[in-house]
Amino acid sequence: MKIGVLGSGKGSNFDAIYEAAESSLLDVDITVVISDVENSLILKKAKERGIKSFYMCPGKHKTWLEPDIEKEYVNVLRENGVELIVLAGFMRVIKDPLLLAFPGKIVNIHPSLLPSFRGLKAWEQAVTYGVKYAGCTVHFVEKDVDTGPIICQAVVPVNSDDTPEDLHKRIQVEEHRIYPQAIDLVVKGNMRIENRKIILTE
Ligand code: GRF
Repeated sequence: MKIGVLGSGKGSNFDAIYEAAESSLLDVDITVVISDVENSLILKKAKERGIKSFYMCPGKHKTWLEPDIEKEYVNVLRENGVELIVLAGFMRVIKDPLLLAFPGKIVNIHPSLLPSFRGLKAWEQAVTYGVKYAGCTVHFVEKDVDTGPIICQAVVPVNSDDTPEDLHKRIQVEEHRIYPQAIDLVVKGNMRIENRKIILTE
């Protein structure tokens, strides 16, 4: 399956997906990487790996793309034959142009056990709240932020002396483990959705 990766940051999840694809654990072809941040590490890594990559100007808003700009994202993804969009630290809300162009074909990883701690810096929210366990979630993307049927989750303990950064590091270890696994489930189609719940069929 041809996938397109969208990210804004350091691209450690992109690394994990790339390595899984290279080692044949994951049967995907990363055809394009797009970032809304010109000097992001994820773009640098894609270039070094010889993967087609684009910086695409996000426009004037901080957290979302205007419809015309989002349509340009759709065009580039389509031109590159993308069948599944993988959000890997893409710091913008996905809206209709992408959702309508790729229905049920966009996945995201969020650094919390959804539905807890949606939104930004979920690891900091978890430490501030004082939960004893945190984790990460891979889910299909829907209109509302950090919602959508859950494909896979992993749990990590929260220690009493954790800083938010300590917890984020621990969560990211699990992100890198489960994101390729979740994409594999989607690619193989070993699931069905019933009442917004994902039932694994194998
Ligand atoms: C991850 O923590 C992910 O859960 C969140 O953004 C971060 C991206 O990290 N959506 P990286 O760029 O993949 O290292």
